[in-house]
Amino acid sequence: MKQIIDVNVKVKRADADKYKADMLVVGLYSDAKGLDKFCARLDSQLGGAIKKVLQLGDFKGKKQTSSLIYTADGIGARRVLLVGLGEKKAQTPDTVRQAAATAAFQAVGMKLKTIGLALHQAFGGKFNTERMGQVMAEGACFGGFRYDEFVTKDENGRAKTLTIEVVDSNEAKLRKLHKGVSIGAIIGRAQNYARTLANRPGNVINPETLAAEAKRLARGLPGLSCTILDEKQMAAKKMGGILAVGSGSRTKPRLIILRYSPAGKAISNKGTIGLVGKAITFDSGGISIKPSAYMGEMKLDKSGGMAVLATMKAVAELKLRLKVMGIIPAAENLPSGTSYRPGDIITTFSGKTVEVLDTDAEGRMILCDALAYAAEQKCNPIIDIATLTGACLVALGKHYAGLMGNEEQLLKRIQNAAGDSGEKVWRMPSGDEYLEEMKSTIADLKNLRGPRKYGDACCAAAFLGQFVGKAKWAHLDIAGMDIFRTATKSTAEGASGFGVRLLNSYLINLAKNKA
Ligand code: BES
Ligand code: MN
Ligand code: ZN
Repeated sequence: MKQIIDVNVKVKRADADKYKADMLVVGLYSDAKGLDKFCARLDSQLGGAIKKVLQLGDFKGKKQTSSLIYTADGIGARRVLLVGLGEKKAQTPDTVRQAAATAAFQAVGMKLKTIGLALHQAFGGKFNTERMGQVMAEGACFGGFRYDEFVTKDENGRAKTLTIEVVDSNEAKLRKLHKGVSIGAIIGRAQNYARTLANRPGNVINPETLAAEAKRLARGLPGLSCTILDEKQMAAKKMGGILAVGSGSRTKPRLIILRYSPAGKAISNKGTIGLVGKAITFDSGGISIKPSAYMGEMKLDKSGGMAVLATMKAVAELKLRLKVMGIIPAAENLPSGTSYRPGDIITTFSGKTVEVLDTDAEGRMILCDALAYAAEQKCNPIIDIATLTGACLVALGKHYAGLMGNEEQLLKRIQNAAGDSGEKVWRMPSGDEYLEEMKSTIADLKNLRGPRKYGDACCAAAFLGQFVGKAKWAHLDIAGMDIFRTATKSTAEGASGFGVRLLNSYLINLAKNKA
C-alpha cells in the first residue's frame, strides 16, 4: 500500500520576515480595526500587500476563508497565507485549531513541502502559549490528512511529507510552544491513524486484520500490551452477543483488549479507566438488511473502535500516568446461512438474555459483552464510543455527538473535554423510562424497543447501561460524526477520527487532576 502523507509538526526559532519556507501562515480577525503589531510589521516588509488585500475587500477575515499573497523578495517565505479567524470576541483555542487545519489543507492541495504557522500571534497573551502550540499541531495534522492509499496512479504528485513549523522569535515562548506542539502532534497523528484505519474498506479491514493491527501497534509502544480473544475463546467465556453478530461472516469476530500501564507509578486514587469502542468492520444490517443507498459508508461503523485504538496509541506516547484499558469488540455484520436471526434469544457474557428483534441493532449486541467484560475487569469509570443509532444523527445532526451516562461528575468531565478538544457533545436523556421500553416478555431485554425507532438513541443507551455493573459509565453516540461526506475548506472527505481528541483531553485532564 502507498505511503499516506506524513504530517510532521515542529517549532522553529525565526523572525517572521527571515523565516524561509514555501508559505507563512498568519491569522486576521474580521472585526479588527487595522493590523496588529505583528501583521503591521510583516505588511511593511511586504510593501503594504496585506493592507492592499483588505482594502480591495478580497479578504475580510471571516472564518473558513483565506487569501494567498505572493511575496516577491520581501521576506524569506515564498508565500503568505492570510487565514480568517472570525470575530475577535468569539475566539477560543478551537479557532486557532481550525485556522491551522485550513492552512494545512491548502498546503497539501498546493503540493507544498514546508509551511510555517504564526497563527498564535493574533491571540496575544489571551490563551496559554503551550495550549496554542497544542491546538496548532492538532489542527495542522487534521487539515494535512489525506486518504489515497489505493490510488495507484500518482496523478496529483502530492508530497509524501508535509513539514509544519510553528514559528516564533522568542526563545522562552518557543519552549512553551514546543511543549504544546509535542502533545498536539501526538494527538493529531493518532487522530489521523484512526482516520486511515476507519477509511480502509471492509475487504481490507475485518476483525482478524484489525486484531493483527492492534497487536502490531502494541508491540511498538512501551507500556502498551494487547490480548486478542478469538471466537473459540469468546465461546468459552460465553460472549454470546459478539459471537451472534459475527456469525454471518467468514471472518470471525475478535475481542481486542489493550492495556496501558505507565512506567512509573500511576496516580494512585484513579482506578483503571475503561474505553470501549464499537468496531463493526462492515454493517450491512445482517438478515435485517439495510437499503443499498450509502451502505458503503457502513465501513465506517468501526469508527468508535478506531477512536479507542488511536487513543491508546496516544496515551502510550504521551506516557500518561494513568492505567487505561481499551476494549474493542470487532465483528462483521453480514447476512448468510450462518447469521443470527430476528427472533433469536442470545445469552450474553453478563448472563442476561436478549431477544433480537432486528439484526441491524448489532452495535448494542457487541457492546453489551464488551461493557460487561470491562466491568468484570474492574474498570471504573467506563466510557464507550460507538456509531450506534441513526436516531442520534436525526436528533443532533452532524455537529454534536450524543452523551448519556449514569454519573454527573463523569459526564461533566467529558463535557469539559469536549470544550477543550473542539469535539462537541450534547447531553441526551436515558434512564428507567427508556429501559422499560427495552424489556422483553420472553427474555430479559430486547435489542429494539419496537417497530418504530422513537427515542432509539436513548433506548440504546438505557440498554447498554444494564451491562456496566456498579461502574460509573458514559456513552458517546457518534453516529454521523464519523464521516465528512464531502471535503471542506479544512478537511478531506471520509473518516473524521471523531473522539480521539475528546478522549485524550478527558484523560489528560484527569491525569492533571483537573475537572
Ligand atoms: N451503525 C448503525 C447506526 C448508524 C446509522 C451509524 C447512520 C451511522 C450513520 C447501527 O448499527 C444501526 O444500523 N442502527 C439502526 C438501529 C435500528 C435497527 C434500531 C438504525 O439506527 O437505524
Ligand atoms: Mn446496524
Ligand atoms: Zn452498526
